[in-house]
Amino acid sequence: MATKITIHSPATVANMVCGFDVLGFAVHQPYDIMQLEFIDEPGIVIVNTDAYNLPTDPTQNVAGAALLALMEAYEQPVGFKMTIQKQIKPGSGVGSSAASSAGAVFAANVLLDHPFSKEDLVRFAMNGEKLASGVKHADNIAPCIYGGVTLIRSVFPLDIVKLTVPDLFVSIVHPQIEVRTADARSILKQQIQLKDAIKQWGNIAGLVAGLQQGDYDLIGRSLEDVLIEPTRSILIPAFEQVKQVSKQLGALGGGISGSGPSIFMLSTNEYTAKAVELAMGQIYAAIGLSYHTYVTTINTDGIQTIDLS
Ligand code: HSE
Repeated sequence: MATKITIHSPATVANMVCGFDVLGFAVHQPYDIMQLEFIDEPGIVIVNTDAYNLPTDPTQNVAGAALLALMEAYEQPVGFKMTIQKQIKPGSGVGSSAASSAGAVFAANVLLDHPFSKEDLVRFAMNGEKLASGVKHADNIAPCIYGGVTLIRSVFPLDIVKLTVPDLFVSIVHPQIEVRTADARSILKQQIQLKDAIKQWGNIAGLVAGLQQGDYDLIGRSLEDVLIEPTRSILIPAFEQVKQVSKQLGALGGGISGSGPSIFMLSTNEYTAKAVELAMGQIYAAIGLSYHTYVTTINTDGIQTIDLS
């Protein structure tokens, strides 16, 4: 029986523009590296090997909170040492807390010889999201665990659908400001107009149909958010310019990644995705804001086991 596992837990893009809290996808870059091993003493010991200084008290650490939920359901005393090397910056909008939470429970489930289903793992990992943002949302956790693009039809009870997707390239820019998910949620309007809701659910349905059918034009037309983006985009410098220039260069469309500040754009080919990446960087360089960019693809596997011994 294995006693130690190393995994890569990927970044995720939640919302996919129109699908606030219901759509999300996993990407290949960036990812966190996590190692979990059994220890004799029951409980959790957390070791951080990055520069982020995250809490090591399991009740205050998102990965710890997720793992505690799994251990409670396991009902037998067990002890883990969890070593976390975060490469996904907290507060970047590409599912940093989800990668830690999902990674922890995925790794524990392998070491315990798979007592839990993927759906159980999502349920446990949502405790990490609750700690990070105050709300149990699964649109980062589910794609991290299932891979690909996932639709969260319902959270209570959980109903997750993994969608079929055509090849897509993803350009991401992370302007170096921090937006806390809890803050980005607190500014949202609690009431919406019926005419806006109609537009939004038309777009969600269009996007899901476009992904399933591999219809790039339909995907592009559906990447529109009339509910959340108008409020949140004001937190992100040069947001409209990034969107406009990316589309001019041939991107299908895109928008705020999760709760921001990262912005993502989808393209049908790598050439366009790289041109978009370059332009995104130039826009932030011109206004003197540091940034990171990535070009990546949709990660249909989600969390990956790197070593098991
Ligand atoms: N759906 C969540 C939100 C994702 O937009 O608040 C947070 O990463």
